[in-house]
Amino acid sequence: MSPRRKDDPQGPPEGREAALWGGRFEGGLNPAMVPLNRSLEVDFRLAAHDIRGSIAWAGALARAGVLSEAESATLVQGLERLLEQVRRGDLAVRGQDDPADEDVHSLVERELSGLVGPVAGKLHTGRSRNDQVATDFRLWGMEAIDSVSAALRDAVSGLLELARRSMDVILPGYTHLQQGQPIRGAHWALAHAWPLLRDLDRLAMVRREAAVLPLGSGAIAGCPFPVDREWLRAELGFDSVTPNSMDAVSDRDWAVSLTFAGSLLGMQLNRLAEDLVIFSSHEFSFLKLGDGFSTGSSLMPQKRNPDAAELIRGKTGRLAGNLTALLTLIKGLPGGYNRDLQEDKEAVFDTVDTLLLVLPVVAGAVGGAAFLPDQIRSRLDPGLLATDLADVLVAEGVPFRESHEVVGAVVLAAERRGTPFTELPEDVLSEIHPLLSRRVLEGLSWEGSVERRRAPGGTARTAVEAQLEEAAIRLEGFSRPPRQRP
Ligand code: ARG
Repeated sequence: MSPRRKDDPQGPPEGREAALWGGRFEGGLNPAMVPLNRSLEVDFRLAAHDIRGSIAWAGALARAGVLSEAESATLVQGLERLLEQVRRGDLAVRGQDDPADEDVHSLVERELSGLVGPVAGKLHTGRSRNDQVATDFRLWGMEAIDSVSAALRDAVSGLLELARRSMDVILPGYTHLQQGQPIRGAHWALAHAWPLLRDLDRLAMVRREAAVLPLGSGAIAGCPFPVDREWLRAELGFDSVTPNSMDAVSDRDWAVSLTFAGSLLGMQLNRLAEDLVIFSSHEFSFLKLGDGFSTGSSLMPQKRNPDAAELIRGKTGRLAGNLTALLTLIKGLPGGYNRDLQEDKEAVFDTVDTLLLVLPVVAGAVGGAAFLPDQIRSRLDPGLLATDLADVLVAEGVPFRESHEVVGAVVLAAERRGTPFTELPEDVLSEIHPLLSRRVLEGLSWEGSVERRRAPGGTARTAVEAQLEEAAIRLEGFSRPPRQRP
C-alpha cells in the first residue's frame, strides 16, 4: 500500500490521509484520538534504527524475489539519503496537527515515498509495524547498553583509582552506622566497585537478551515470503533470530531486564552517593569532593554542598519507577502484539538517559575525591579495636564467647571512668582478666588490626591489593567487544 496523498481523489477521508492503514475506514480519526495515537515525538529517536532495519528488509525482499534488484536498489538509495538526513538532524517531526505521521515508521515511509515515488509502497511487503518496532527498539537497545556499559566502566575506573590512592588511609568500617572495625580506604572504594562490576555483567546479559532479531515475524503469524532471516540477522548485527513470531512481536523481556539492571545500578549508586554525602559532612569530614562536583548556597556563604552525590541519589526513584511502569504495562496483556506496548519506550529511554547523565558524574566525583587522613584519624574510636582485644585472648586459648564477655567488661569499665578502653590502668585490667595488661593494649593498633585480616576479601594490604588487581582484570575484560568476552 502506498501512502495516499491529500490530492488523490481515491484517498481516504480527512484525518487518515497518508496513514499506513486508512483503506477500510470511512470517517476521520477523532481529534481527541490523534495525540493519544501518536508516538512520533517519543519514537523519533528510533529513526536511524528504523531506516537501517528497512534497508536490510529491502535487501531481504530482493533476495526472496519479492522485489526486483532495481526496486530494492531504489529503496535502499532513498533510505540511505534519509539516514543521512537523520544524521544531519534534517529529518523533522511534523506538527501535532498532522495525524498522518503517527509514529516513526509512518514518517520514514512517507518521506521515502517523497524521495523515490510509488515504489516506496513496496517496502512494507511481508512486514508489520509490530515486528518492525520490536526490531528498531532492540537495535537501539543494544547500542544504548553499549553506551551505558562504557559510562559504567569509567565509573568503576574512578573507584579503582580512588582505591589505589587510599591503600594507607584507615577508615572506621561502619555497621548500623556505628564504628565497627577499621578498614582501608581502598577497601571501602572497592566495596562500591564490586556491585558495579556485577552490573556490567548484568548489562552484558541484557545485551544478549536484546540481540535476538524479531524482523520477519510479520504482525503475529510470520512472513509469507521466503525471506532469509539468517541473512537479516547478520546484516543487522543480531546474535540469533526469534523462534516464534507471536512471541517475537510481544516480547519486551529485554526491556524489562534493562530497566531492572538500571534500577539496581541506580540503587547501588544511591548507596555510594549516600556514603559520599555522609563522609563529606562537617561531622565526618572524611572526604572532600572536587570543587567541580560541589556547589555553594545562595544564602550561606560558607556552604560547600555535595550536590553531585545528592542528585545521583535523587535519580534512584525514577529508575525504580521505570521498572515498575514497564512491569505494570505488560501485566495482563493477552498474547500477541497489543497497542499498549507503544508505551514501552519512554520508560526505557528515560532509564538510559538518566544513567548516561549520572554515570559521568559518578566517575568524575569519585575520581576527584580525596580522603582526609588526619581528620579521619582524629575521629577513629578506640572501640574499633575491641574485637582485636577479644582475639588476643582467643589466641591465648580463651573461648571467643568468654573473651567477648571479658572485653565487654573492659569497655564498660572504660565507659564508667570516662576514658577510652585503651587507656585503662593495669590494675583495672588485671582485675577483669589475668591475661589483660597494658602491654596487651599497647600491642593494638589501627594498622595491626587491618593487617590481621589476611584471608581473601579482608583488609590486609596483600588481600586488598589482590582484590584491586582482580577488580582491574574484571574491568579490563569488559572493555573487549561483547563477542570476545568469556
Ligand atoms: N507505534 C507502535 C509501537 O510503538 C508501532 C506498532 C504499531 N502497530 C500497530 N499494530 N498499530 O508499538
